[in-house]
Amino acid sequence: MFRLSNFHPKVALWRAATNIGPLPVLVRARNSAAWQDFWRTENSEAVFRDYAKGSPLRDWLARKCMALDCTSVFELGCNVGANLQAFWRVNGDLKLYGIELNENAAAWGSRNMPEGCEARLMVGSMADAEDVLARNGVDDVDIVFSCGATMHVNDDIFAAAKQQALKIARKAIVHLEYHAWTPAELQNGRNWRSSFLSDRWVRDYVAEYESMPNVGRVEYFRIPPEINIARNIGRLMVNDMTGLIIAHLK
Ligand SMILES: C[S@@+](CC[C@H](N)C(=O)[O-])C[C@H]1O[C@@H](n2cnc3c(N)ncnc32)[C@H](O)[C@@H]1O
Repeated sequence: MFRLSNFHPKVALWRAATNIGPLPVLVRARNSAAWQDFWRTENSEAVFRDYAKGSPLRDWLARKCMALDCTSVFELGCNVGANLQAFWRVNGDLKLYGIELNENAAAWGSRNMPEGCEARLMVGSMADAEDVLARNGVDDVDIVFSCGATMHVNDDIFAAAKQQALKIARKAIVHLEYHAWTPAELQNGRNWRSSFLSDRWVRDYVAEYESMPNVGRVEYFRIPPEINIARNIGRLMVNDMTGLIIAHLK
């Protein structure tokens, strides 16, 4: 294969540019508190309508979780509850719970829930999931899951949510999230967050769970590319969700 020599001016220029940062440092990244505030205060009808749409990806997630033979599920960061509706369409008998930071989204979702779908959308942070569930009279559920939500919280919030998920879930914890498949992806994704506008906290979800005492095994799946729609941030194309990770509990 043809390759430019390491000393070619184009290579030198490319190296210099990429060494300054993986992407241009245009704006300082906003911190976690600023992003939490952003999520907490969203109140646009158009945004909620968009979140309410079903998709083949939501249906795929629902089928993967249903295969775990569950009777109840709890979503971290459920917004208006579109994933819970997808679960309901697969199995109308499931008990469906969600926790959402944004009370406007939870209220909109509850108001617009299809008839017969009794998903309960609770308001609070996933960092306080156990308390919020207990206050609503729920002790435990078969599956705790997230979809494009834990990628938006920093490591402290995720650590708290994970500890509680490990206590709340009976069968499995499932993440359809921005997953790093390689150490380089983890490093690049973290640099991308700290050097640009992104509010995406990439994680190695397998590593997050494989050494936990009550986790039996961790399974992971590639998302079928034809249902994983890429979006753009400026000229860069991104997939919000890059892997499905299932931590099976003992
Ligand atoms: C990109 S949206 C995904 C929503 C939903 N999971 C879906 O698939 O449509 C991220 C959601 O996480 C929520 N969120 C962010 N931080 C949260 C936190 N600390 N606790 C609970 N929800 C949070 C946001 O308000 C938002 O609704």
